[in-house]
Amino acid sequence: MEKMELPPRPKLFDFHGVSMTNYFTDNWDNVQNFQARPDDILIATYPKAGTTWVSYILDLLYFGQTAPERQRPIFEKVPFLELLIPLYPPGVEVLDNLTTSPRLIKTHLPVQLLPKSFWEQNCRIVYVARNAKDNAVSYFHFDRMNQTQPEPGDWNNFLQRVMDGKMVFGSWYDHVTGWWEKKQTHSKILYLFYEDMVEDTGRELDRLCSFLGLSPSAEKKERVRRGAQFDTMKKNSMANYSTLPIMDFKISPFMRKGKVGDWKNHFTVAQSEQFDEDYKKKMKNTTLQFRTVV
Ligand code: A3P
Repeated sequence: MEKMELPPRPKLFDFHGVSMTNYFTDNWDNVQNFQARPDDILIATYPKAGTTWVSYILDLLYFGQTAPERQRPIFEKVPFLELLIPLYPPGVEVLDNLTTSPRLIKTHLPVQLLPKSFWEQNCRIVYVARNAKDNAVSYFHFDRMNQTQPEPGDWNNFLQRVMDGKMVFGSWYDHVTGWWEKKQTHSKILYLFYEDMVEDTGRELDRLCSFLGLSPSAEKKERVRRGAQFDTMKKNSMANYSTLPIMDFKISPFMRKGKVGDWKNHFTVAQSEQFDEDYKKKMKNTTLQFRTVV
């Protein structure tokens, strides 16, 4: 896919205490006034935590992949609520025009910025979290290849920005703990971990189905599990983002490695120690725990 002409890469700025770029704030009033429906299913994540994977699983569970109208890229079938980039209709507009039921909706918003109608309608929310180190590595490669993201700079500087929370959609630490705290008092949030999904996709699929009140046959579950395997999705142009020209796969593919522990190939020992020390301080008040290996 050819690179397309876009404005220069966006700059980060502070938005209600969260680092953002204009691509996620330009449509803010419409985003905040978005009217959720009771059967909407929201997939909420910090960027690079496994959003596309879970989106694709939900899409297969609800709609299968045989119907001709489902032969569309995942980012059209599971619209990105707060997105507004040149040449594409805003996420809110795509969602308002979506005729499927339920609607599957993607967001990266931190919990405190979610439009209130999702709470009013008591929608089901699937949150996916990924350990900070792998999440940071994945985000680094994503920012290298995606022209609508700020320049990542070199890995060392990028890592410092991760620790400072100066990333699009803000601090990883605030995001994962904010949603975790909300989940403690709100029964309609399922909190999944990328590492658990890699370890045993079938088990996590069962959790997902029981949360959603679905009881697919064993055959269907197996079909979904296989259809959503990394290698299968990587080859599938409807799931791998290869049809979206803002991304340059020559720099790094969207479906990059799909592994737990790839951080070991990026962090030096010194970087890892510094990161761990800082992590302990930032995460000392939460019960949320991650695995960085499986
Ligand atoms: P890597 O860059 O580590 O490979 P998001 O969809 O939130 O942007 O997350 C993208 C990350 O999820 C990428 O991680 C991508 O490879 C990984 N991913 C996508 N589909 C996956 C799958 N089926 N199995 C495992 N990882 C997957």
